[in-house]
Amino acid sequence: MSPRKIIIDTDPGQDDAVAILLALASPGDIEVLGITAVAGNVPLHLTEKNARIVCELAGKPDTRVFAGCSAPMLQPLVTAEHVHGKTGLDGPQLDDPTMPLESQHAVDFIIETLRNEPSGTVTLCPLGPLTNIAMAFRKAPDIVERVQEIVLMGGAYFEVGNITPAAEFNIYVDPEAASVVFSCGRPITVMPLDVTHKALTTRARIDRFRAMGTKVGDMVAAWTDFFERFDMEKYGSEGAPLHDPCVIAYLIAPQLFTGRNINVEIETTSPLTRGMTVADWWGVTNKPVNAHFIGDLDAEGFYDLLVERIGQL
Ligand code: RIB
Ligand code: CA
Repeated sequence: MSPRKIIIDTDPGQDDAVAILLALASPGDIEVLGITAVAGNVPLHLTEKNARIVCELAGKPDTRVFAGCSAPMLQPLVTAEHVHGKTGLDGPQLDDPTMPLESQHAVDFIIETLRNEPSGTVTLCPLGPLTNIAMAFRKAPDIVERVQEIVLMGGAYFEVGNITPAAEFNIYVDPEAASVVFSCGRPITVMPLDVTHKALTTRARIDRFRAMGTKVGDMVAAWTDFFERFDMEKYGSEGAPLHDPCVIAYLIAPQLFTGRNINVEIETTSPLTRGMTVADWWGVTNKPVNAHFIGDLDAEGFYDLLVERIGQL
């Protein structure tokens, strides 16, 4: 089977970085048509720079990286330096990237790619706020039906919120964009906190990256050492949820994940619950199914995949 063509839309972020490494380490399964940066964990000038740092770390400096939207559609930007540090990739010392940033705006790259590739052959993989995706859909409605699938990290039901009591960060930052995406009518697979909180960076799991004896393995260990302190303090857990790599792992090994086909809508008006993903997990409404909402994973299998693939970089 030919590799699946994807666009990764991202706000690196240590967990985004591991997701990008997994994708670039899996050319037999995934063809990364481009990486589009969005403002989220840190401002856009850092997320686009971080995306290029990760591509160079992976030894893939020819990967096309585009800068997208620097602010949400309607809301003021909320960032997460308290989790990811000032640079967004705090932990190890990093050199500035030398590979170029593409001059085309990320939204225009998304539109052009979906128009040029055969319809139904490109999967969108958002790992941050959905601003770029929603803006592309708004600017060029013709591209929506051409999307093969959207596989995104965001939202929560049983785990409720991580940035407010009700909302997960990616959806909270741009709820209007999330509402556009969740109502677009294309197949959507959602990796919410419900599943990512079961993919913890335990000491034993991260020691496997340290044991690789490679620069990439050392970087992943240093990033997770930094990134996990926030969640471990907050949840008292034995590691942090490795959120975004769940998206890429799902494309490679969907059998690692289980979920339900349900209706998910986004709260956009209430100041108290803005950005909440109202997931009808128990089917108490007759609202139409619009999402494959993932609730569980084989965590050991997930980390085996991460170690096997990233160990090849
Ligand atoms: O809530 C977790 C999500 O927000 C992850 O994608 C993390 O990188 C941040 O973007
Ligand atoms: Ca992210």
